[in-house]
Amino acid sequence: MQEGLVSCILILCLVSPCLCLKWSNFGVETEESTYNVLDYGTNGNGESDDSNAFLSAWNDTCRSQGIANLVIPKGKVFMLKNLELKGPCKANSIHIQLFGNIVAPTKDEWVDDKKDLIIISNVNSLTIDGGGYIEGNGNTWWERCKDCTRPGVLRFSSCNDLSVSSLNLVNSPRFHIAINNCKNARFFNMNINAPGNSPNTDAYDISNSKNVVFQDSTIAVGDDCIAINGGCSYINATGITCGPGHGISIGSLGKNKDYETVEEVHVKNCTFKGTTNGARIKTWEGGSGYVRNIIFEDIILIEAKNPIIIDQHYGSKNANIEVESLQISDVTFQNIEGTCADERAIRLNCSSNGCHNLILDQINIISSNPEKKAQAFCNNAYGKVKQVIPLVSCILE
Ligand SMILES: *[C@@H]1O[C@H](CO)[C@@H](O)[C@H](O)[C@H]1NC(C)=O
Ligand SMILES: *[C@@H]1O[C@H](CO)[C@@H](O)[C@H](O)[C@H]1NC(C)=O
Ligand SMILES: *[C@@H]1O[C@H](CO)[C@@H](O)[C@H](O)[C@H]1NC(C)=O
Ligand SMILES: *[C@@H]1O[C@H](CO)[C@@H](O)[C@H](O)[C@H]1NC(C)=O
Repeated sequence: MQEGLVSCILILCLVSPCLCLKWSNFGVETEESTYNVLDYGTNGNGESDDSNAFLSAWNDTCRSQGIANLVIPKGKVFMLKNLELKGPCKANSIHIQLFGNIVAPTKDEWVDDKKDLIIISNVNSLTIDGGGYIEGNGNTWWERCKDCTRPGVLRFSSCNDLSVSSLNLVNSPRFHIAINNCKNARFFNMNINAPGNSPNTDAYDISNSKNVVFQDSTIAVGDDCIAINGGCSYINATGITCGPGHGISIGSLGKNKDYETVEEVHVKNCTFKGTTNGARIKTWEGGSGYVRNIIFEDIILIEAKNPIIIDQHYGSKNANIEVESLQISDVTFQNIEGTCADERAIRLNCSSNGCHNLILDQINIISSNPEKKAQAFCNNAYGKVKQVIPLVSCILE
């Protein structure tokens, strides 16, 4: 039967080489393969480790040609103890469809505390979606391991042209999603959730990346909703509802006297609800580099503490006002309104080298606490103020 087919194709090719060529070309160009983790011996019972089965499925997905789909089906819970999905892949593009749920082990069952649960590296043109959950079981860590090394749940490293949407990430031991060294990435319709008092549970932690968009997502965590770290440029956040959490932060930067840069960050149409901070830039004393061309606009505040804050003495107990830090310039806060939780509405606490060309425009922040009227504080802050409540008389020309 097989032999018959092969000789038939051979004859066909001899008779019509043109047809044969066309046929194989066609095959290569539109090839699309689908791999399902159920075909690789997963248990999907939420208890036995499915990491190896996932890895085998990934190997086939990554090695296939054309478009490759990896399906993680609905109605199952897959326990992963440690999964590294590595590229580069042969596939032109990969689509991971997370319809089902993934659960992390409890602290005692975790394989390597220094490794995040799922690490995806050197994979280009990757799409992940599907509506599934990733449960980090962070509650087994937070109390017992406040100061020890805790892992995160999902890490992207050196991934270009990445799209991640419609996922639910809950209760990571540490950050939920780390992004390092990626270009052209988009995260949207995401739901990231952990208790407001859970330690260091940033939703996103991004570094050394360019052209990244965070869009239309709901975030409630115990630390930054988005932390934009050194080496980042052209980062947009729009339609993010953040709270509880520590707001959308640039930094912290310049720890241990590091040289770091962040530029072209655009935060627009976001809501900060019951957050400890809102629009925030934080740098350590003694660091160098710059933060520039930053816009926070169209922001709604609901009882946010420190809704607008630049802190260049981050982490220092006894601020040394003579010490320099990163150069902060060209930062605009525009169309920001709502309530702060106490008197700290606007704090521009710059280092001795000053923050330059700060623009505050159309801001209206009132305190929700009648005993603590909203106020503005500044230190070495230079710029322009138009239509701002509370009154900012401390800014320098
Ligand atoms: C997957 O591929 C990697 C790299 O080629 C190999 O080291 C590993 O053994 C493979 N794992 C499985 C489960 O197929
Ligand atoms: C970020 O926002 C700016 C201003 O709206 C826009 O010009 C730019 O194209 C956006 N960048 C990305 C990567 O979407
Ligand atoms: C603003 O963000 C909300 C989500 O918080 C979204 O529904 C809405 O479409 C956005 N508006 C604009 C003008 O982008
Ligand atoms: C600036 O920061 C230092 C150190 O945290 C603090 O002592 C000081 O009160 C701050 N000033 C303002 C205006 O917030």
